[in-house]
Amino acid sequence: MNTRSIHFRLILWYSGLIALVSLALGAYTYHGVEVRLYAEMQQTLTRRAQQIADNILAKTPPESPQEIAAHIRALYSPEANNRFIRILRGDHSVLYVSGRPKDGMFDPSRLPLPADAHLQATRLEPLASRSRLFIVVVPVTALGHDYLIEMGTPTDGPDVALHGLIVTLLFGLPMAVLAVSAGGFLLMRRALKPVEDIRATAEQITRGNLSHRLPVSPSGDALEHLSVTLNRMLDRLEDAYEQATRFSADASHELRTPLTIMRGELESIIREAGVPAPLRERIGSVLEETERLSRITESLFAISRLDAGEAKIQHQKFDLAALAQGTAEQMLLLAEEKQIRLSIQAQQPVFIDGDAARIKQIVVNLLDNAIKYAPGGGAVWLKVSAAQHMALLEVGDNGAGIPAEVLPHVFERFFRADKARSRDFAGAGLGLAIVRSICLAHGGSVDIRSGGEGKGTVCRVELPLANGQEQKS
Ligand SMILES: Nc1ncnc2c1ncn2[C@@H]1O[C@H](COP(=O)(O)OP(=O)(O)O)[C@@H](O)[C@H]1O
Ligand SMILES: [Mg+2]
Repeated sequence: MNTRSIHFRLILWYSGLIALVSLALGAYTYHGVEVRLYAEMQQTLTRRAQQIADNILAKTPPESPQEIAAHIRALYSPEANNRFIRILRGDHSVLYVSGRPKDGMFDPSRLPLPADAHLQATRLEPLASRSRLFIVVVPVTALGHDYLIEMGTPTDGPDVALHGLIVTLLFGLPMAVLAVSAGGFLLMRRALKPVEDIRATAEQITRGNLSHRLPVSPSGDALEHLSVTLNRMLDRLEDAYEQATRFSADASHELRTPLTIMRGELESIIREAGVPAPLRERIGSVLEETERLSRITESLFAISRLDAGEAKIQHQKFDLAALAQGTAEQMLLLAEEKQIRLSIQAQQPVFIDGDAARIKQIVVNLLDNAIKYAPGGGAVWLKVSAAQHMALLEVGDNGAGIPAEVLPHVFERFFRADKARSRDFAGAGLGLAIVRSICLAHGGSVDIRSGGEGKGTVCRVELPLANGQEQKS
């Protein structure tokens, strides 16, 4: 569980708050119930004391305590009911006191007399067991005599009820907090689902499909605003990207014609009779550079059109293995010049759907690099295979490799790891950019791996297999 996530922190705060509120509510409930129970007990006892005054003391004079005792026993039988009753005269001498209750919880004769100085209406006497005796003291006057009537009852009843309440709260409240937290988690997940949707869609938007937009739910809240704002940003991004590709497409397109004319002119000058040999040599060198410029321009034009999705991709089904094999054989001479062993593994036919001329360009560019960067006497291999829904074309060499820090850039236009050296090879750093553009235009992908400097390089191209090819392979 991610403890720093917004989910976790919100739930934590939320549960903490709920726990606090339920704790306060629990304490409040407990206190309220306690007050109520004791108040009721007090009322009942006071009423009984009043009854004793009205029914017994008002009819029997204090001179006959036996009679009073008999009356009380007959009417209330305090011993059988675990009650405590004591009647004091005005001078606090005991007129009557009930006997030991049947469960023997307390001894009435030992209970202290109420303190005279500040007579309290109720008091609690601790008992031997955990229970206490709740006593109300009621002053009454009957037949012209003052009395204090004490009525008491053990607090077992309310204590049991309060204990039950505590148990209920202790189990119930955590359960409630748990349930509310779980509910909160689900609600939060629901509330954050649109954010997750936006994220998932944003994840899918890449260079290739800048035209995708985020889902906008018309909720009028921050999430709608966020999607709308992000979509506007994507509009601007798409515009900028389109302009950039448009620019290089236009620029390279505009350069083609003058370059062609220049090449034509230079060629015709060289062919002209009477041009002195040194001049011819220099014009030849200019012609070479012009041809190089033409190639770069053509490549740039091709990339821009592929990236802009303008280039028409011919769709025909053909055998990639055969194409790769044929192309590699054509390049054998190049390898032999450097005494490089070129091994080809492409026996099984692997059919793909696409533009054969462009796919051939991929093979040429990759083999060209491998041969270029493998050491003299080194080895280059090419392999075509099929896996799941993809055709695999791999080209590897045992050359100098590519340093890890430049590896992510090799597919960029005009990128060359070692500019001084590459220039000798007449490379402009567009070869891999073309490979990638063609792969993307065919719904495939390309990646390059190198064990690092001196460990060789493997370039791996994945292209979708032609329909029906999956089952066969
Ligand atoms: N097989 C390879 N071995 C080592 N470096 C390579 C290999 N393939 C490509 N590179 C590096 O990637 C850069 C870009 O390659 P590429 O786009 O084909 O441009 P170019 O071949 O014109 O230099 C090269 O300049 C080189 O530094
Ligand atoms: Mg190259």
